[in-house]
Amino acid sequence: MNLDFTQVIPSLPFILQGIGVTLSIVAVALLFGFVLGVFLSLLKIGKYKTLRFLADAYTSIFRGTPLVLQLMIFYYGLPQLIEMDVPAYLAAVLTFGLNSAAYVSEIIRAGIEAVDEGQKEAAMALGIPYSEMMKDVILPQAMKNILPALMNEFITLTKESAIVTVIGVMDIMRRAYIVGGDLYLYLEPLIVAGMIYYALVMGLTLLGKRLERRLRHSD
Ligand code: ARG
Repeated sequence: MNLDFTQVIPSLPFILQGIGVTLSIVAVALLFGFVLGVFLSLLKIGKYKTLRFLADAYTSIFRGTPLVLQLMIFYYGLPQLIEMDVPAYLAAVLTFGLNSAAYVSEIIRAGIEAVDEGQKEAAMALGIPYSEMMKDVILPQAMKNILPALMNEFITLTKESAIVTVIGVMDIMRRAYIVGGDLYLYLEPLIVAGMIYYALVMGLTLLGKRLERRLRHSD
């Protein structure tokens, strides 16, 4: 066994620069996915059958096919339709955002539906209008189910973002791979990448735990 991390040290800044790339993809995708996910969840719990069907179909398709396939469709396939190149970063953010929305919409729908029916009945018996009931009665309670699950989605996205490597985005993963090729030494830079991802995920996990504790306190 011959692990030699000293050769990787000069390349550390290069690999570390990938953290910003990875986090920016994840952050933008999460935001985009959240907004679209909220919208889809409203359609799912709404009263219009066709819209409900469309939102369900959306989730079904994005959850039912591999993320890496979706990424390749947006990067390699889409230019064929629009006759214009799609920058890798844009393809990444778009794919991850659209994919995440499918998951987020289920998280929110399930979170809202998990609130006891009696809460809704009580609000209706008191004559509270629907939008106010949602805002003041249902959503605050649903948040307890939704926030931890959203945090999980954040973590999943962070790890899954490593596949943007296949379309050439210079994230942590790709940088480690490039260093490996340069040095002809793969294990060490890949271990470094692994440690960075692990640290990011642990940071997010800690944040999630803190959030959950705060939510429990508010009971
Ligand atoms: N590996 C899975 C896939 O390729 C992960 C998708 C997870 N996506 C998410 N936003 N939670 O389908």
